[in-house]
Amino acid sequence: MNNKIIIINGPNLNLLGEREQSQYGSITFKELRKICINKSEELGLVTEFSQSNVEGELVNLIQNARKKFDGMILNAAAFTHTSVAIRDALNVFKKPIIELHISNIYKREEFRHKSLISDVVTGGIFGLGADGYILAIISMQKLLKNEDR
Ligand code: DQA
Repeated sequence: MNNKIIIINGPNLNLLGEREQSQYGSITFKELRKICINKSEELGLVTEFSQSNVEGELVNLIQNARKKFDGMILNAAAFTHTSVAIRDALNVFKKPIIELHISNIYKREEFRHKSLISDVVTGGIFGLGADGYILAIISMQKLLKNEDR
């Protein structure tokens, strides 16, 4: 059964609830983790929720995920706009990937308008706040269910 997913969060997302609430809302990282795990369980998914501030650690997480997980939800945060290494690692993960951003990156500074990963992922969600994670989990469950057929 295809039901193991990893949610990977990039730099500074550990400070959710404390950083730029006007962009990211008041939910804390711990609360976000809890709602993601709860929603996953409700949908029959087994989810690992991870975060790193270090680009190389994110590359390692993405590389290692190819052997252990059926799908990936990735908020690469600031590395979205800069990291060729993360993009290259994603190309090795031959299963569904959802790119996620809490804020609407296209309404913000111009340097955030460019994502280096959008064209190597399955699809994306942005600008819907923390709810985006719930929507991504629902979409991932559907993608994996279709693959099971
Ligand atoms: C973000 C948007 C990025 O531009 C920013 O660097 C982040 C978070 C988001 O979730 O809206 O850290 O990925």
